[in-house]
Amino acid sequence: MLVAMDLTPKRAAESATEMVQVVLPNDANPLGFILGGTVMHLIDIAGAIACHRHTRSLLVTAAVDDLQFLHPIKVGDLIILKSRVTCVFTTSLEAQVDVYSEETLTGRRMLTSRAFLTFVAVAQNGSRIPVPPLLVETDEERQTCEEANVRREARLRRKRVTLQQPSV
Ligand SMILES: CC(C)(COP(=O)(O)OP(=O)(O)OC[C@H]1O[C@@H](n2cnc3c(N)ncnc32)[C@H](O)[C@@H]1OP(=O)(O)O)[C@@H](O)C(=O)NCCC(=O)NCCS
Repeated sequence: MLVAMDLTPKRAAESATEMVQVVLPNDANPLGFILGGTVMHLIDIAGAIACHRHTRSLLVTAAVDDLQFLHPIKVGDLIILKSRVTCVFTTSLEAQVDVYSEETLTGRRMLTSRAFLTFVAVAQNGSRIPVPPLLVETDEERQTCEEANVRREARLRRKRVTLQQPSV
């Protein structure tokens, strides 16, 4: 069944998302810190939720920019993921995901990772579909989108280079 896309422009605030969960022993390495792979999984989900809320379409993850783990998150701490759409292109859009640890007993919060992800909107048959425009109203939102455009150029350049390299 063909579903008509609703291309009504939306504000980033309309799709901004916050995910919170407690780090359980099953999520941790032998040091009692959450596994990097688990954090990456949650980042993908948090970014996708914001983009789904913006596009209300199926999406695939096209790229995740380089990721750093600035501080460990311990078993018993909360992991908080805040995601928002930074910029919309034609059939793709970028989300920023900030990851925080929060100590349950003290409330001390630290930024542990920041990730930029690109998602591509697809129809059931896999074809790319246009995404609704992002309403950019403040100077800060304009600057965020300009920075996203710079990152987009860089990642498409990296993609071209990767595709040209011989495989191992
Ligand atoms: C991502 C994917 C759809 C791109 O397909 P493609 O034919 O190479 O891309 P196109 O040249 O048609 O570009 C489509 C859009 O994706 C963007 N795009 C494609 N590859 C990209 C990349 N590596 N990084 C960022 N954006 C990318 C393009 O800029 C374009 O955006 P625009 O329409 O907003 O300008 C395809 O490579 C794919 O299906 N990859 C696997 C996705 C996946 O399995 N993800 C994990 C599970 S969800």
